[in-house]
Amino acid sequence: MIEKYLIVHGPNMNLLGERETEIYGSMTLDQLNEKIKHCAKELKVELKCFQSNHEGEILDFLHENRNWANGIVINPAALTHYSYSLRDALSAIQLPTVEVHLSNVLEREPFRHISVVETVCCKRYIGMGAIGYLRGIEYLVGQGTVKQIGQCATSAKTVDTCLRQVVQLLKARQPKYTWVGIYLLEENELVLHNFLGRPTPHARIPLGTGICGAAVTEGKSILIPDVKADPRYLACSIETKSEIVVPIFTGNTIIGEIDIDSDLADVFHEDDQSMLVACASMLGDVLSGGAH
Ligand code: DQA
Repeated sequence: MIEKYLIVHGPNMNLLGERETEIYGSMTLDQLNEKIKHCAKELKVELKCFQSNHEGEILDFLHENRNWANGIVINPAALTHYSYSLRDALSAIQLPTVEVHLSNVLEREPFRHISVVETVCCKRYIGMGAIGYLRGIEYLVGQGTVKQIGQCATSAKTVDTCLRQVVQLLKARQPKYTWVGIYLLEENELVLHNFLGRPTPHARIPLGTGICGAAVTEGKSILIPDVKADPRYLACSIETKSEIVVPIFTGNTIIGEIDIDSDLADVFHEDDQSMLVACASMLGDVLSGGAH
């Protein structure tokens, strides 16, 4: 099922591009929406974009689309700081909602430090310009992926099927994930159980070698923005630019890893990490027999 999100811009956002450009930049609202739509296309999600200078119109839009959408990315603009009716609308419709601000509101006038919607939003991106919206969409997609992986963790007939489905889901949901694999720890080696992407010469990785080996030794996730700059990196393909490795635990013991490469540089951030940690935790349950 295709995910559908509402993109909502509050009052005065129609003046982007001419309004206080030293704060909000020179991008117009149309240009911003184009960027957002491009990202949505890449991530295969459907969008409805809406802007209004009227609080009531924004509430009506949210109400009307509450059964159409799976999530919301909203820049409530000044309504952020005082609109309890917007807060209540978001709370009433119970969709995962991301709050976005182009500027860093925490470094501006004190009245902007208050957000009355923050507590009904699951995530907040401030001061990142247009990127905040894109990260918001990616975050919602990630939440959807976690949900799907949860379903497959409880319904897959065998552990092998589950691991295979998880690799397929991760690869399919995020085009930036060029190579997705799951390694399982066997004695002193990480053994590739399942992967999608280019074939790799590293089907068995001795502990202590490579980024994968390092993640086991260090007992934590590792994000590498530029693999060429990291001497631990075991080259699988010259196309690979960045990598993330997230250990799979059962209790305090590492039993495997999710390893993802990208052909794009510096694309993994803490949202990928927390999404993959949630997936790894479910896989930990499956692998230790807890989820079946
Ligand atoms: C804004 C910040 C708000 O304080 C302000 O009222 C806006 C835009 C932002 O995107 O930085 O209109 O939400």
